[in-house]
Amino acid sequence: MKKLITIAIDGPAAAGKSTVAKIVAEKLSCIYIDTGAMYRALTWKALKNSVNVNNEAELIELLESTDIMLKQSSRGQLVFVDEEDVTYDIRSNEVTNNVSYVAKHPKIREEMVRRQQMLAKHRGVVMDGRDIGTHVLPNADIKIFLIASVEERAKRRYEENLKKGIHADLNELKKEIERRDEIDSKREASPLIKAKDATEIDTTSLSIQEVAERILLIAKDI
Ligand code: CDP
Ligand code: CDP
Repeated sequence: MKKLITIAIDGPAAAGKSTVAKIVAEKLSCIYIDTGAMYRALTWKALKNSVNVNNEAELIELLESTDIMLKQSSRGQLVFVDEEDVTYDIRSNEVTNNVSYVAKHPKIREEMVRRQQMLAKHRGVVMDGRDIGTHVLPNADIKIFLIASVEERAKRRYEENLKKGIHADLNELKKEIERRDEIDSKREASPLIKAKDATEIDTTSLSIQEVAERILLIAKDI
């Protein structure tokens, strides 16, 4: 029987995780799981229901009654909250500015990790996030930690916005990325950190294709 490969991709915001993870997943006929979308989905619902993002007890109650579903489609990965398509809404600035507060709470992380491990069970997966190699899939076949300079990451977000017709403020994007990285790296519960056995790839001057090829080369030996 063919082995089901598991690949964990972690790293800070806009390092290229999701773009590269999707390419690698397709090449290896694995499913792609975007764990950041799950934290964003809960944040979206918390904001909609005026639940304080710093109140862990209220958030966990909300999460327990929330169905978050990731669906693969020809349009890419779609995200549903209680059967409502929120794929677009979870990328709003409001969600982006609040998600790291929601993701700080240990009980929220515990439940998210449980759901993510269920999604990965008996499947070939490429999963991206902040704690995949360290907590969600500690036995992953391949662990990748993507980094890039903050200037390059802000530029990438700027260009992404431009493609949607939005002229964002480059300096504001840089500040938002730095602020989120800081909260994600300094929280007590499973912070953003490179797993000891992860391969670090600095993507600052690499193309998407080059990064994907490096990972696929590692996967060839598995
Ligand atoms: O794509 P982007 O870098 O903007 O972020 P994301 O992957 O959508 O994740 C949004 C936020 O969710 C992160 O800044 C973290 O606060 C949180 N997150 C996390 O704590 N653990 C994960 N495994 C994935 C995301
Ligand atoms: O998932 P994460 O937040 O780490 O980053 P992403 O959403 O995959 O990538 C952010 C942006 O950078 C996307 O628009 C990618 O096309 C772009 N990118 C790039 O220009 N060069 C790379 N090596 C990787 C990503």
